[in-house]
This record gives sequence, C-alpha cells and structure tokens, in this order.
Amino acid sequence: MDRRHFIKLSSLLGGTLTLSTQLTGCASAPETKEYFPAVEFTHGVASGDPTPSAVILWTRAVPADNDDSGYVRWQIATSPDFTSPLRDGVAKTTRNNDFTVKIDVQDLPSGRSFYYRFFTSENRSVTGTTSTLATGVMDKLKFAVFSCANYPAGYFNAYKAAAEDNEVDVVLHLGDYIYEYPKGGYATANAESIGRDFMPGNEGELLTLKDYRLRYATYRQDNGLQLLHQRKPFIAIWDDHEIANDTYMSGAQNHSADEGDFFARRTAAIQAYYEWLPIRPPMGYDNPQIYRSFEFGNLVNLYMLDTRVIGREKQLNMADYKQADGQFDGKAFMQALHNPDRTLLGRAQFNWLADEVKQSSARWQVLGQQILMGKMHYPAEVLTSEREAVAGAIEGLLGLLKKQQAGATLSKVEQARLATKLPYNLDAWDGYAAERDKVLSMFSDAQKSLLVIAGDTHNGWVNKLTNNRGETVAMEYATPSVSSPGMEDYLGLNTAQAKRLADALPLLIDDLSYCNLHERGYMTMTFTLSMVTTQWHYVSNISNENYTVFTRHTERFVN
Ligand SMILES: [Fe+2]
Repeated sequence: MDRRHFIKLSSLLGGTLTLSTQLTGCASAPETKEYFPAVEFTHGVASGDPTPSAVILWTRAVPADNDDSGYVRWQIATSPDFTSPLRDGVAKTTRNNDFTVKIDVQDLPSGRSFYYRFFTSENRSVTGTTSTLATGVMDKLKFAVFSCANYPAGYFNAYKAAAEDNEVDVVLHLGDYIYEYPKGGYATANAESIGRDFMPGNEGELLTLKDYRLRYATYRQDNGLQLLHQRKPFIAIWDDHEIANDTYMSGAQNHSADEGDFFARRTAAIQAYYEWLPIRPPMGYDNPQIYRSFEFGNLVNLYMLDTRVIGREKQLNMADYKQADGQFDGKAFMQALHNPDRTLLGRAQFNWLADEVKQSSARWQVLGQQILMGKMHYPAEVLTSEREAVAGAIEGLLGLLKKQQAGATLSKVEQARLATKLPYNLDAWDGYAAERDKVLSMFSDAQKSLLVIAGDTHNGWVNKLTNNRGETVAMEYATPSVSSPGMEDYLGLNTAQAKRLADALPLLIDDLSYCNLHERGYMTMTFTLSMVTTQWHYVSNISNENYTVFTRHTERFVN
C-alpha cells in the first residue's frame, strides 16, 4: 500500500492506529497533533552547549520505511511526566543529515534542569536530562572531563561511571571522540575478541563523509556513551583523530596525497562531527570554527579552544634538523621552536581569547583544550633510547639522582645526563613554546586564576605551568583516555613497571608532579568559590562492561 495513502486512511479511521500500536507494543508515544509515521531512534538522545537560556537537543531518527525524510516531535519539560512541556515543536529528519536531528531550544529559564524526548505518533525516544547554565552567584559546579575514546580498544566504562555520578553537571570532551584508523590499524588488536569490531563497510581508514558517519554510528552504540549523553549536557571540542592523526591547519601526519584532497576530507569529517555531536558551532554549520566560551555564573569562565584546525602551523620534526654530518643542529631547532611568530591557535583565536579574558570576572578561568601545555622536557637520553631501552635509561638516571641525594658529587658527564633535556612531543604545546608563554602571560598579567585541562596523551598528568622566569602561573590537569592505550602499551610495560615509571617521571621532569601511565578513566573538577577539587578516576576493566571505578588522585587548587 502507498504509505501516504495509508497515513490519510488511518487518520480517517481514528482509533485504529491506537489499537495497532497497542498490539505492537509501542503505545507509549504521546499524542501528536498530526500523524507522524514511526522512526527508529537508533542512538538514544543527547544534549549540549548549554547557555543561560538555550540548549541543543539531539537524536537520530531513521524513518522505519526507508524514506529519505520524516518528522519527529520534541518536548522539553521540568517534570519527567511531561504534563506541561515548557517548549515543544516538530523537527524534520533527513538522509542529508544522516537522520540526525538537532534542536537549539531557546528562551528557557536559567540554571534549571529539564527532561526532554522525541516522538512520533508511533514511538518515542528515551527521556534525556539536561540543564541550562546559571547566572549570578553559583555555589558549586562539577565537570566530568574526557578524551580519547577508542572503540576497538575497549568498552567506554569511564563514560558510564560519570553518567552514574549524580553530582556531575556538565561533561567536557577534549577530543578524540572517534579514531580514523582502519581494522587492523592502531589499537584494534583485541577488537574481535572483545566484540568491538567495526561494522561491515566501515573497516577502512575514514576518508569520506559516509566513512566518518558510520564510525560515529558505531561508537554511539556503546551503552556507556549513550547513557552519558542521555543524562548530561556535553561541551565538546575535537582533537586530531576526528579528522586524521596529528592534524594541522593544512594537512595531517595520517593524510597522504593518494588519499585525495585534505580539505575535502576535513570538510567531510567536520560535517559528520557537527551532525553527531550536540554542538552549536558558533559561526554556523558551514564554518570550521569551534572555539567558544561558556560562563558558569560568577564561578567559572570556560574557554574551549581549537588547537588543530583553525590556526595550527605544521609540527616541527627533529629529523629535519639533522645536518649533513648526521649531527643534530640544536641551535636551528631551538630557533624554530621559539620563533615568536609560530602559532598554534592562529591570530584570530588568540585575539578572541585575549578579549574574552579581559572581560571575564569569574572566580576561576579554565582553558579546555586538547594537548599538554606543561613542559614535558625529558632527559635526552630517555628520548633517544630505543623503545625497549627506555625503562632502563630511566632507571640509570634515577640511580644518578639517588647518588646525588646521598651527597655524592656527580661527574660532569653524569650532571649533563640529568640536565640535558628535550621536549618529547612537538605536536603538543612544547612545539609552540613562544605562544604558550604568551597565553600564560595573558592570564597572569590580568591576575586571573587559571587552570588548563588537556587530553590527548591517554594518561593522567599534573603539571605546574611555569612562565619563562620559571614562576608557576597556573596548573594543568590532564585526563586519562577512556579506552585508548597509554604509555604502558607504547613502552611495552607491565603494571608494576608502569607504576615504577610513574613514580620516576616527576623526579626527572621539572614541572611534572603526578602521572598515571597504565589506567583508563576520566577526571572530575568540582568548583566552589574557595577551591577547585580535581580527581582522577580509573576503571578496573575495559574488555567488557563489568568494572569498578577507583578514585586514585586528588588535587586541590586554592590560588
Ligand atoms: Fe588520543
């Protein structure tokens, strides 16, 4: 039967439809003003980018009859029975958006919690919870902070743990929400045995819009991620893997000419990100600008930065500074590294940030961004060791430190072994040192209390952020990965070795005070007017959905 004819017919028949939906067990859809055929809510619901008066609501609604488009109604209310919705409306779902539906609900009261749902005449989504931001005096605020979720590497139990923390107000996602790698690529070794293979048709490296969309559809099947989206509003930014490894302004380490035009790939990647994330791109959906800020009453000003797409100059590569005689040209390298014009944020974003900081009067300033800002300057001996020799090199240096602490005088060579340090990751702020100094001065000159949060490394870290006079001007807290393998995997360490290394690194890296190198998890940050309490939570297991969560470290910031 022609579907449109059927719709007309059934509305004429009145009660027939109710009866049929009762028989099929989906009678719970609320009444609609006109008949909307069933859709499949394939990936739950989500919300994000709250302001004092608005919030993005998200769902994915695939027409049950394989149509190119359909309609859903939505409601937002202050009570879970939706007896008197605050706002409601109709939204179209179309194949053009991968059947994702996003509503930017306006004119909501500030500082309130809400229930929301989507439905047709035939069926409805799960009910989500979200909130708007408070204005004025705020006593308390709690963030859960995430980065680096890798579907084939494990279950997203860290997301589930945060979903079950009733005190978490908002989720911050610092990127690597997906990874672009193919089956058999990075972190996929256990995928099949733990039931986390990619779906057929999505097993290659992501290059096209269809590829990226299917990868989001795969990731969003994870129960922990669905639950977290359903319960908490997200504020998200991308890192590199939403596009390709080590993305910069005009290319990426993991993009080669035979994979086509980089910008076409990036456009596809960004389209899928905007479709699948409950984000409100500040310059609209055709613009790759995502840096934006959020004001949590008088308590926190949060700046979400883009250190990937909008302004990043290409990463430096130490191999490019090898001279004809094979020697490393340290002088030329340092000159390039400290070039005052070298930029990570780009001029427009930098100037925007400076303006925002000047105007902010919030108690705490938070830079939400992707990569480590702390000076991760390792002894050169460690960095130049083969992978298998790293642990041994560190042991050797620890031996020297012990000797020194016991009062022995070190030889010149031994002193140099401890003192000769190099930045280990030129994709991080260490590769953009001059701009790092400028960003830190921006806050310290204005006498603002700054915390920087980071992801990207897959491990938990605490760094002092020091200016070029060596003074501590802020702290950096880095969240461990949700499931991507960390340093222990890269260096082939067992748990005992990884713990030993985590104890050793703060002794060898000047500004580092804490790290965890072998566990997956997330961070929470609780803000009051007098203190910020940051905690590192780790899950016991990612190879199935059974886990316990341990809080292993707490930092209190009172500056
Ligand atoms: Fe990552």
